Amino acid sequence: MLVTGGAGFIGSCYLRLVRRLRPDDLVVNVDVLTYAGNLENIQELAHDPGYRFVRADIRDQQTVTAALRQHDIEVIVNFAAESHVDRSVASAEPFLDTNVGGTLRLLEAARAAKVKRFVQISTDEVYGSLGSTGAFEESTPMAPRSPYAASKAAADHFVAAFHHTHGLDTVITRCSNNYGPYQFPEKLIPLMILNAFDGKALPVYGDGMQVRDWIHVEDHCQAIDLAVTRAAPGAVYNIGAENERPNMDVVRAILKLTGRDESLIRHVTDRPGHDRRYAMNATRIRRDLGWSPGHDFEHGLADTVTWFRENSGWCERVRSGTYRSYYDDQYAARLSAAGGNDSEGVP
Ligand code: NAD
Ligand code: DAU
Repeated sequence: MLVTGGAGFIGSCYLRLVRRLRPDDLVVNVDVLTYAGNLENIQELAHDPGYRFVRADIRDQQTVTAALRQHDIEVIVNFAAESHVDRSVASAEPFLDTNVGGTLRLLEAARAAKVKRFVQISTDEVYGSLGSTGAFEESTPMAPRSPYAASKAAADHFVAAFHHTHGLDTVITRCSNNYGPYQFPEKLIPLMILNAFDGKALPVYGDGMQVRDWIHVEDHCQAIDLAVTRAAPGAVYNIGAENERPNMDVVRAILKLTGRDESLIRHVTDRPGHDRRYAMNATRIRRDLGWSPGHDFEHGLADTVTWFRENSGWCERVRSGTYRSYYDDQYAARLSAAGGNDSEGVP
């Protein structure tokens, strides 16, 4: 198997899972190590004889094809992507390059090396935004609204086109919002946990009543592996844990778990084009592949807070360097306009 983006949040969880489930199989991880890629996330695999790391861009078709041939790869699972919506608002180009161009190059490499299956890790954001009721189904038309979502939808179209046109065996999974260990702290849950630890302001976009459907990353990876090993060619599966929460509820839960009070909350200028509500109907994967999530949100969130508390070295390292300037660009003006500075409340 060749996994791309295995040094990121979800890809690293998936690598740990497949090494546990199929210790006799070889897994090759192709990752270019962007700001979000971190070999510390998969440190435990560094000396594993069934694991190889290739530092390469998924757009580098030659290197990828050589890795596919050298290791006789049967399955590609494509996690590699620019994954953060706010960054796609600031600059869409890298999203087009990696998420669309990279996926296309990978599809071409898969064809050239006669790979048996290509699994694309997609997102519920391709469906757009919901009103106060209903849930996305696999038949819901794609209606992406952020540049990130547009790039993921375009990639899904290319994957489907390669299935129909070239007969490539493809599977697409579309999951809702993940949380858990090793998540890069640009995302809501780790950002709020780390700010709460430090007694810093918690920047809530707009009224904070946007709804996301949260799933533990390990449940997502279990579902992906069922799709990898058991889905029919051309299948599309929604993945979600039926766990809708307004952002304010998530932020309040984090404050409680970290022993902080609500005075840290700042309602800041909203994300442009902010999707109001996501909710997944995951009946198909539950019914066809027998998947169900194992984590409930209350325990999963508490364990995640504990993981971040116990891994302060990891947190310090990922927040050093370019993350600081990203954070300032994204939040300094918003927080100061909201009437609180970044360090307000430091005990
Ligand atoms: P992440 O940002 O944590 O990790 C992305 C990884 O891809 C990094 O290791 C990075 O170095 C690598 N990468 C980026 N560009 C690359 C390139 N051109 N070539 C090779 N490697 C490259 O992302 P994540 O949150 O782990 O998301 C993984 C996948 O899951 C993405 O495709 C994302 O769209 C999808 N997804 C994420 C979520 C979520 O909640 N995070 C939910 C549904 C789907
Ligand atoms: O739904 C799946 C998607 O979930 C994935 O495809 C994306 O890769 C992943 O980044 C995630 O996208 P979101 O935009 O939903 O996640 P994010 O953590 O950025 O934001 C979650 C919600 O919290 C969203 O409504 C915006 C809000 N938010 C986020 C940040 C970072 C805030 O209010 N304040 C913040 O500082």
